[in-house]
Amino acid sequence: MNTTITKDATSDIAPATKFSLQLTVTDKAAIADGIVKLQLTGDDLPPWEPGAHLELALPDGLVRAYSIVAGTTGRSYELAILLEPNSRGGSRYLHEQLSIGDVINATPPKNAFALAPATRYVFIAGGIGITPILPMIARLKNEGKSWQLYYLGRSRARMAYLADIQALADEAASSVSLHIKDEGCRLELATLVSALADDTAVYSCGPNSLMDALSAEITRRPALHLYMERFGRAELPAAAPVDVTDCDDEATQATCNPDGSFELELSKSGETITVGKDETILECVRKVRQGLSFSCSDGYCGTCETAVLAGTPEHRDSVLSEEEKQENRTMMICVSRSKTRKLVLDL
Ligand code: FES
Repeated sequence: MNTTITKDATSDIAPATKFSLQLTVTDKAAIADGIVKLQLTGDDLPPWEPGAHLELALPDGLVRAYSIVAGTTGRSYELAILLEPNSRGGSRYLHEQLSIGDVINATPPKNAFALAPATRYVFIAGGIGITPILPMIARLKNEGKSWQLYYLGRSRARMAYLADIQALADEAASSVSLHIKDEGCRLELATLVSALADDTAVYSCGPNSLMDALSAEITRRPALHLYMERFGRAELPAAAPVDVTDCDDEATQATCNPDGSFELELSKSGETITVGKDETILECVRKVRQGLSFSCSDGYCGTCETAVLAGTPEHRDSVLSEEEKQENRTMMICVSRSKTRKLVLDL
């Protein structure tokens, strides 16, 4: 079994109701090269479970999602933010501009990477991917469950929460394994996966290169259960070519135009716009509509999910399940297109 959750967490101005939490930055500190820890505090904050994340509403309408590492029940959440080298403003704002005392709006915790029941757990964390893993281990320790952590990084200086990991190792040395590239200690994924007992739950979070390599290894072990959370775009299968030989006059029945464009009706205003072959729905709608929510722009975060009222989407995202894609009730407008000459969306 292979479950992939994609998160990262850019958005136009998102609906205010979605970001119902008002959180005050009560602590901010560097905890590794390029990584800051934030403590966000509020009143009567909703509970969270290991694997959960918050979506933060940032200036200029950006939205970013970050795993909750720790917190005080009802009072605070702790996040750790990696400064992305190609940041479009999200992590750079959090690193360079957000200050103690600032107030930030966030969604209540969401969890698409929760711990599933299992007899034994293996965690493979790459870099900042340690953030959802730490509270999972804390939960399993409390429950007396069997777990094993493999924490991968380029150098110790760039690895967050190393002191916490060391404390875990002090308690259970055989349960913690550090793999630091600068120290010549790499993880042999194939060897590790082949040695895992059947029915092990494998949880992994980190860069795409790690996720793709792990996923490839685990396909050879169908008795393992893989749960992944990516920090970046998944490798999406190439879209199936659209059959344009069967166009008829019923726009929402017919295949899209031979030049790859299609018509898009915005149901709330009745406007109809044309989405060109090299444009995304999101780009086109943003030219005529303010306040659209989006984040990754790559089909992996789910922020731009939009209800489909007529027509057939050509799904290119990695958020919806195959079943949801066949239902065609919603689509990710940042990457998905139309199989029919016309789509009507709840916009
Ligand atoms: S903005 Fe992330 S899925 Fe569309």
